[in-house]
Amino acid sequence: MISIAYSAGLFGIDGYLVTVECHSARRLSCFEIVGLPDNAIKEAKERVRAAAINSHLPFPQNEIIVNLAPADKRKEGSSFDLAILISILISGGVFEKPELLENSCFIGELSLSGEVRRVNGVLCMAVAAKKAGKTKLFVPQENVNEASVVKGLEVYGVKSVNDIVNHFNGLKELSKTEYTPSNENDAFSYPDFCDVMGQVAVKRAVEIAAAGGHNILLIGPPGTGKSMIAKRIPSILPEMTFEESIETTKIHSVSGILPQDVSLIRERPFRSPHHTMSAPSLVGGGKIPQPGEVSLANNGVLFLDELPEFNRTVTESLRQPLEDGKITITRTAGRITYPCSFMLVAAMNPCKCGYYGHPTHACTCKKEDIKKYVSKISGPLLDRVDIQIEVMSIGYGEISEKRKAEPSSEIRKRVNKARAIMQARFENDTTENGVKITCNAQMESKHLRKYCTLSNECSSLMETAFTALGLSARGHDRILRLARTIADLGGSEEIQPNHIAEAIGLRSLDKKYFN
Ligand SMILES: Nc1ncnc2c1ncn2[C@@H]1O[C@H](COP(=O)(O)OP(=O)(O)O)[C@@H](O)[C@H]1O
Ligand SMILES: [Mg+2]
Repeated sequence: MISIAYSAGLFGIDGYLVTVECHSARRLSCFEIVGLPDNAIKEAKERVRAAAINSHLPFPQNEIIVNLAPADKRKEGSSFDLAILISILISGGVFEKPELLENSCFIGELSLSGEVRRVNGVLCMAVAAKKAGKTKLFVPQENVNEASVVKGLEVYGVKSVNDIVNHFNGLKELSKTEYTPSNENDAFSYPDFCDVMGQVAVKRAVEIAAAGGHNILLIGPPGTGKSMIAKRIPSILPEMTFEESIETTKIHSVSGILPQDVSLIRERPFRSPHHTMSAPSLVGGGKIPQPGEVSLANNGVLFLDELPEFNRTVTESLRQPLEDGKITITRTAGRITYPCSFMLVAAMNPCKCGYYGHPTHACTCKKEDIKKYVSKISGPLLDRVDIQIEVMSIGYGEISEKRKAEPSSEIRKRVNKARAIMQARFENDTTENGVKITCNAQMESKHLRKYCTLSNECSSLMETAFTALGLSARGHDRILRLARTIADLGGSEEIQPNHIAEAIGLRSLDKKYFN
């Protein structure tokens, strides 16, 4: 006799329905699992048997063969345990009305005592279960919040396998978990810009970067507040759209870093990896490919403090993700693509001692050492940074100022307004790679031609800058994108000459520091 229970597997951030078929026959006692299972699933045999015995459920002394279909997909992890045991219990006649289980999907790892333990990627699997037409989903209690986000699916949190048996046999019904928006992590926990005195030009640059999603490099001597300012950027980032939230939550869910009480990430992530990190942990990798920091920062900020301290191979590995907005990792398990649309924020001293270019403080570095220091950041990487801004120390008058500076909430209002304009503009636009465009920084040349038309006056200003600054085509496009954001912040449909002028000023440090 064949009995069936449904579960879901994970491939990257996409889930898929898995049919767990259990064949049981009155023959010599044995237990096999087939269907491309990895080692964790082979160990499922031991967990499932122990869980059944310790839950006082009958485990058939028969020949049992469990098949995980589709067989051509390599199944990973321990999330099939629960469905495997359910399929065996069905064949053992434990459920009085097994047909009641047909529209249900079961996800969870089992402990030896029969408890159901949390697994990674439940949101992705819940989406897949819904798509495959399942109406009920049983997940570990600890994962119930993330699963509840999926509309049109009844979600139940379970603590033990007996919860499910009792539920279906009418002994003790479980209650559905409804999605509660209060479980979104939108409580602002990031430090506020009201602490940053002076630095008007830097704050303006940061506001432009946040509004348009532009990559930004802060450069200047030590102690001038570069790290302080960068850490405040998440507090002014625009609100996330629902799609952005879902995508980012999926990645965090797959990585197992989604807090238990959070159902949906509503705050843009801010990832700040240390400079000792390796390239695979930055861009993703491992035997079972895991998302890297670039993907965990998806729809948010990746902050690299002390940029030249990072290993060059590590910073170079950023180029492709910066360009494509997604990254594909190839391993034996297959090719997995993770989204990685992020805003790069980097900070650095201009040289080893930190004072090169300082108006009053002498730099003690040798000329070739200065060159060596900045050359750690390659041209192609710099090319992908729209804004470079110098951060110099503020005067005594500003530091001793008693009044607080403008709070992040005010800056964020302006950023939100500008981003709303962008979202409306790019409603139907995608990049060549098929990434949906949400902000000006993602515009490619065809979008620039469409949305950044220039008046004659603006054109001639551009032409002057192009020749005087020796701009490349890439530099030209960068200025257009920035000017578009500056115009959006000012609520202007047309790009005006003052927008172009400000945009040019946001990228004028190449000569001073990098040549
Ligand atoms: N504009 C500012 N307003 C208030 N405090 C500041 C400002 N700039 C720097 N500071 C103070 O100096 C400290 C050092 O700044 P930090 O961000 O670490 O500098 P950097 O990263 O440029 O070396 C900050 O923690 C803060 O206390
Ligand atoms: Mg610093």
